[in-house]
Amino acid sequence: MRIDIITVLPELLESPLNHSIMKRAKDKGLLEVHIHQLRTWAVNEYGQVDDYQYGGGAGMVMMCEPLVNAIESLQKERTYDEIIFLTPDGERFNQKKANQLSLKKNLILICGHYKGIDERVREHFITKEISIGDFVLSGGEIAAAVVVDAVGRLLPGVLNDETSALFDSFQDNLLAPPVYTRPAEFREWKVPDILLSGDLKKIEDWRHEQAVERTKQRRPDLLED
Ligand code: ADE
Repeated sequence: MRIDIITVLPELLESPLNHSIMKRAKDKGLLEVHIHQLRTWAVNEYGQVDDYQYGGGAGMVMMCEPLVNAIESLQKERTYDEIIFLTPDGERFNQKKANQLSLKKNLILICGHYKGIDERVREHFITKEISIGDFVLSGGEIAAAVVVDAVGRLLPGVLNDETSALFDSFQDNLLAPPVYTRPAEFREWKVPDILLSGDLKKIEDWRHEQAVERTKQRRPDLLED
């Protein structure tokens, strides 16, 4: 999979996408992430990519021209399955959407800043708008990193058996069961006996029960889906 990210703050994306599982995905050649500085397509020598909004009001708006030139220069090289704008007024991101995106080949992610991007770019170029939650971030970069991480780890071959996405919370609309490691007793707090029993069938049943119980308590909405 190839993901192109258009941003005015490439530095914000470099670290999250170059460590741990994302690094492994890239090193294995399963995920290519290309980060593009929007100012490369600025409208003048001062690197301008935003301007005041028509109608007045505080806050700058990212201009059509740099964004459209950036998108079109990428489209000249390959076809994109989705051009995604990260924005708090987009569709809420979840595991199902991550699964769907992980099946695509080429994606463009656009990180907004200031008041947002000129509506005409949204109308004519953006195919999907994603919010990572009901809160406002200072820009779309951290949201883009969240999407790339959630999608990248689902690509076949990125995770090994141990970290397999099949066992993640949400993959079956259930939260993950509790987990423990050594020692079996710490400050008189004991690991549940069943996990030490060696009976794999009972352990699996126990984990499922715990997952259902936890989901009922914390996220009953997931059980309604
Ligand atoms: N940009 C600012 N806030 C955001 C959010 N919650 N999700 C996606 N992009 C954003």
